[in-house]
Amino acid sequence: MAQDAGLATPDGAPVNQAGATETGEGVRRRDFINIAAVAAAGVGGLATLVPLISQMAPSADVLAESSTEVDISAIKPGQAIKAMYRKQPLFIRNLTAAEVAAAGKVDVSSLRDPQTLEQRTKEGKANWLITMGVCTHLGCVPLGAGEGEVKGEFGGYFCPCHGSVYDTAARIRKGPAPKNLEVPEYVFNSDTVVKIG
Ligand code: FES
Repeated sequence: MAQDAGLATPDGAPVNQAGATETGEGVRRRDFINIAAVAAAGVGGLATLVPLISQMAPSADVLAESSTEVDISAIKPGQAIKAMYRKQPLFIRNLTAAEVAAAGKVDVSSLRDPQTLEQRTKEGKANWLITMGVCTHLGCVPLGAGEGEVKGEFGGYFCPCHGSVYDTAARIRKGPAPKNLEVPEYVFNSDTVVKIG
């Protein structure tokens, strides 16, 4: 019986569609392709693992920034500054007596993240409100620390991304953010210098 010319070699060995004989070459080619694909995946896995590990170890510049000293002597009552701490925005605010009083009038048990202003500041320095400038919803930088910026209806900070509103103790009062603005570790080195971290 006549054979299909495209499916056999002249000596009668069957040929697959890739043109390789089924006697071994085709199998070897398929094996090579599979091995090559696995090897490429292995290299890719290694390539992604190395940056991940190196990201987990603090780099020299991060270690160098693990604490930050800020001179607060020029911040008048009612003013705030934005600084950077560990590559994130930090707000340092000198609350007015009225802002301190407004924070103290709030029924803490009604708050989503119940904290008093005193718990969020250092003893005898309730006017110095030091927080991260990172919204606890999805990480936007709230408005309110810059000159003329909107402070929101509770007089603290307003996040323009999805409308979270913080009060004069930077406690969450409205909107989707679950927590108050974070208070970092800090100490007063003197009346005018704060060491963050
Ligand atoms: S990130 Fe601030 S409200 Fe969504």
